[in-house]
Amino acid sequence: MRPVIIAANWKMHTTPADAAELATTLAGRTNVPDVERVICPPFVCLAAVRDALAATPAGLGVGVGAQNVHHELSGAFTGEIGAGMLVGLASWVIVGHSERRRDAGETDELISRKLQRAVEVGLRPILCVGEQLAEREAGMAESVVAAQLGGSLAGFAEDPAALGAAGLVVAYEPVWAIGTGRTARGADAAAMAEAIRQAIGGLGRGFDAIATDLPVLYGGSVSAAAAGEFLAEPAIDGALVGGASLKVEEMAGIVARASLTAAGRRAATGRGG
Ligand code: PGA
Repeated sequence: MRPVIIAANWKMHTTPADAAELATTLAGRTNVPDVERVICPPFVCLAAVRDALAATPAGLGVGVGAQNVHHELSGAFTGEIGAGMLVGLASWVIVGHSERRRDAGETDELISRKLQRAVEVGLRPILCVGEQLAEREAGMAESVVAAQLGGSLAGFAEDPAALGAAGLVVAYEPVWAIGTGRTARGADAAAMAEAIRQAIGGLGRGFDAIATDLPVLYGGSVSAAAAGEFLAEPAIDGALVGGASLKVEEMAGIVARASLTAAGRRAATGRGG
């Protein structure tokens, strides 16, 4: 049975003080059974969020994630953050977000190296993939995403099991749906989630073992109102939430809907399904 995961990507929002307060409130308002919750604040807020969550009983089940990590462990890289520095502050990390592909020129090759560094230090990666609107309209969405996966996971060809052990999660985020208020259709996102598992399974020996149990999240304008569209799909295991993750009522609604999905999965397993 795959888990249900709701990850909050706060992007470049919040100060440490704001972040601590928001994390405490969110933890209390989303404290439902069986949903894995993760908050990814800016780097400078990681410690504040970690400490705020540790200080409230509702925060104990909430993971902390970084939004990025450098592709080298250390060195002369002014302004950058290495994977080892995150240990103790975060247990998750987002890698390859489309805003970084767009604004920081991140390539699949670079993303592969970032993933390797994350896995080496024991961070759980959320790898983001997704097509542009023109690519979807040209019928190329699945091939674009498959190419992103192939490039981003190339660094694990010798040791795909390390990815499974690290608990790789893939977030399918169509670029045209991010921050636009326009979401994919649930059926299209579900088809892509299956295509993602198939593409990873096809990467070679050892990757097939990861593919079946791979959690795939949907991201792109997820709100409390839109969440059901995706969380009703058995192929989709949760959401990566941007704008709405800064709003307590939105997150409460999204996580409550995710809890229904988790309960349904548990019941199906109980029936031997
Ligand atoms: P959005 O962002 O929910 O604001 O569209 C999602 C993301 O970028 O992860």
